[in-house]
Amino acid sequence: MTTKQKHLLYNALFLVGCAGLLLFLLKAPPETTRPLPHDATHERFMTMKKKEAEKFCERCHAPGKEAPLPETHPPKYRCLFCHKRK
Ligand code: HEC
Ligand code: HEC
Repeated sequence: MTTKQKHLLYNALFLVGCAGLLLFLLKAPPETTRPLPHDATHERFMTMKKKEAEKFCERCHAPGKEAPLPETHPPKYRCLFCHKRK
């Protein structure tokens, strides 16, 4: 194999690797995570800027509040990153 052919092969492998990783990241977690519910409580957050909306989440979803998160909840710094609005 010439050096040029080797470079082509490595570039191709690299691209396949990237595509695989991208698919994995796009596919894996969000599909199973519940979206932001469409109900009286959450409807107003659908149109708000994400960062604005996220300031309200912990008024109810925090220990001792109306709907605390389970202890097994994953890291929760950006709610709407995982709980999509759709
Ligand atoms: C006024 C209180 C309140 C606020 C503010 C609030 N929630 Fe909720 N949320 C609730 C309650 C109560 C439930 C459980 C009952 C229900 O499903 O409506 C709930 C349920 C949920 C669920 C689970 C839905 C399901 O299918 O089980 C998600 C996800 C959620 N909230 C995300 C959020 C996010 C993200 C924010 C901030 C943008 C937010 N909530 C702000 C009260 C609130
Ligand atoms: C890293 C991704 C991620 C982030 C960020 C995140 N969550 Fe979750 N959340 C999950 C997963 C995964 C579950 C459990 C699986 C599911 O949604 O059914 C969950 C579950 C929930 C539930 C349902 C709990 C129950 O009793 O069943 C609520 C409510 C919720 N999250 C609210 C929030 C709020 C509010 C924030 C921001 C403070 C937040 N989440 C940030 C991934 C995330």
